[in-house]
Amino acid sequence: MAYQPLPFRAVAANVLLAVENGQSLTQCLPPALNQLPPEQRPQLQAICYGTCRWFHRLEGELNQRLKKPLRKPDRVVHHLMLVALFQLRFSEQATYAVLNETVEACRALDKPHLTGLVNGVLRAAEREGAPEPKDDSSRYSHPVWMVEKLRHNWPDNWQAILDANNRQAPMTLRVNALRFTRDEYLELLAEAGIEANPTRFAPHGIQLERPVPVERLPWFEDGGASVQDEAAQLCTTLLDLQPGQRVLDACAAPGGKTCAILEACGELDEVIAIDESAERLPRVQENLDRLDLHATLTQADAADVDSWWDGAQFDRILLDVPCSATGVIRRHPDIKLLRRESDIVPLASIQLGLLEAMWSILKPGGRLVYATCSVFPQENHRIIQRFLKQQDQARLIEIDADWGQDMNTGRQLLPDPNSHDGFFYAVLEKPEL
Ligand SMILES: C[S@@+](CC[C@H](N)C(=O)[O-])C[C@H]1O[C@@H](n2cnc3c(N)ncnc32)[C@H](O)[C@@H]1O
Repeated sequence: MAYQPLPFRAVAANVLLAVENGQSLTQCLPPALNQLPPEQRPQLQAICYGTCRWFHRLEGELNQRLKKPLRKPDRVVHHLMLVALFQLRFSEQATYAVLNETVEACRALDKPHLTGLVNGVLRAAEREGAPEPKDDSSRYSHPVWMVEKLRHNWPDNWQAILDANNRQAPMTLRVNALRFTRDEYLELLAEAGIEANPTRFAPHGIQLERPVPVERLPWFEDGGASVQDEAAQLCTTLLDLQPGQRVLDACAAPGGKTCAILEACGELDEVIAIDESAERLPRVQENLDRLDLHATLTQADAADVDSWWDGAQFDRILLDVPCSATGVIRRHPDIKLLRRESDIVPLASIQLGLLEAMWSILKPGGRLVYATCSVFPQENHRIIQRFLKQQDQARLIEIDADWGQDMNTGRQLLPDPNSHDGFFYAVLEKPEL
């Protein structure tokens, strides 16, 4: 029998099942996209991101509509129905197409015994419309623990954070300052018919009115600009880079900030970029190559200094630690499904360990910038507090900026629906001997 490719809704259901089982969209979407003809790929991507974004809302509805949960081996059909509900509630797709094609996808997934159930649930959903969300987890479409933690951490901002997380992030560029001024690049964009504005806080940032494929960006392949959120770009101003310095980017992949560092100061002595992930490190080299920049790359656990360090201390260290990524949920909505409350304490301990290790290889008079894309103080403010308690000679540098909020140890940016992601920065200096 000829090979029948799966309908894209069935592929989407398999992707969501993989996310529920712990894989990120970045991991499981590319192979899924390859199963489909090119014209269906954008739709698959939109459905997978959208269903993750609204997962907890849709799940709330689906659970109300199902008399009992499906058996574990049929779980993929649960995800298939979430995909269909996403399309009914959040897309322009014609209802009859969603209903008919979802039933067909159910058959293609080899679950013919569930087509009646799928049909019944979706017909009722269409007839009755979306139910009132039963709780804040459904209303804001986030896991219960995240809603509660945000409410506790940000009593005045939690709803705004949850709302911002559900919006699509803008596409923001970092102009390669070694090649173009921001004004020059804005002109190139205008000539290419791409509407854009300078970012408010990052000196080389440009925010596009609408996302475009990178191939449409002027000089992209030749290193004229990179895609990077405005908050992430702020690291270079905080590092206060000067010619001749030896700089370490301790958690570097995929290299957005390594490249920003090299573009911000063309005459650094050396930039060393470390990442422990063999899978992610090559992405740093790809970015460096496209931008025609040079750094020394090392695959290592940065905290295990003896395994990689040559003994020469660093003038500047950027420590962009692994974190909950709760500041970038709008770009990675699968975080809502992947992250567990129990992840935060182990992450905080890794973060403090990395900070202690990096401090030991910072030159007297040198500067360390601690960064996360988290909005939880446990990974931000409190790490710096804990560190300062044990390192009383470490000097906290106040960040004099018009972005974010002052947390006494650093500055916290919350995700802004109109501009930057959620981020935290703290700046520490080691006194001269
Ligand atoms: C937030 S991401 C870094 C993003 C990067 N700085 C950028 O701007 O493109 C954190 C990175 O830390 C890496 N990582 C986690 N633990 C590490 C460790 N102990 N040593 C070095 N890298 C680590 C992860 O593989 C991941 O690539």
